[in-house]
Amino acid sequence: MSAAIVTTAALWRDGGCGTLARVTPTSHSVTLDDLAATEALGRAVAAALRPGDAVLLDGPLGAGKTTLARALLRAACRDPALEVPSPSYTLVQHYDSPLGPIRHFDLWRLDGPAALEELGWDEAREGIVLVEWPDRLGALRPADALGIALRPAGERRHASLAGWGGRLDTLLALAMRPA
Ligand SMILES: Nc1ncnc2c1ncn2[C@@H]1O[C@H](COP(=O)(O)OP(=O)(O)O)[C@@H](O)[C@H]1O
Ligand SMILES: [Mg+2]
Repeated sequence: MSAAIVTTAALWRDGGCGTLARVTPTSHSVTLDDLAATEALGRAVAAALRPGDAVLLDGPLGAGKTTLARALLRAACRDPALEVPSPSYTLVQHYDSPLGPIRHFDLWRLDGPAALEELGWDEAREGIVLVEWPDRLGALRPADALGIALRPAGERRHASLAGWGGRLDTLLALAMRPA
C-alpha cells in the first residue's frame, strides 16, 4: 500500500511581538491509494485502541467507513476471518475483544437521540464505540474521540484524522509502515 501524510498545524503568536510561539498539530490528511491502505489504517487504529475509546467515521456513502471499521475490528478481535456485517440495518453490532466490548454503530437511519438511548449508547460508552454517521449523535458526540473523515477521490480515498493527541502520531507512523 502507499499513502502520504500532510499535517495541518494550528499556529498562534505570542502577545504583541509576533514571534511564533508554538506549533500544535491538529489534524492529519492521509491519501489512501487503495483498499489495502484503508485496511492498514484500520489495523493501525486497532493497535492504538484503549477501553473507553470512541472512533467516529465520517464521510458519504461508499467512502470506506465500514471497510475501515471491518479491518479495525478484525485486528482488535485478533480474528482475520471475523464476520463484520455493515450495521446499516441493525444500527449496532456487538463484538467481544481482548480490550472488552466493542460496538459498531451505523446511525444513518437513526430516528432521533431517544432511539440512541434505546440502542444502549450509555452502556456502549463504557466499552469502545465505532460510529458511522456520527453527526447523528448531536450533543452526545464524545469530545475526546478520534475523528476520521473519509472522502472519495476517484479510485482513492482521502482521510482526515483529528483527536487523540500524540497517540495519533504513533498510529499514523504504524499505518504508513509497509504491510
Ligand atoms: N482506499 C480505497 N480505494 C478504493 N476503494 C476503496 C478504498 N477504500 C474502500 N474502498 C471501496 O469503497 C467501498 C466502500 O464501501 P463501504 O466501506 O461500505 O463504505 P461506507 O461504509 O462509507 O458506506 C468498498 O467497495 C471498498 O472496497
Ligand atoms: Mg457503512
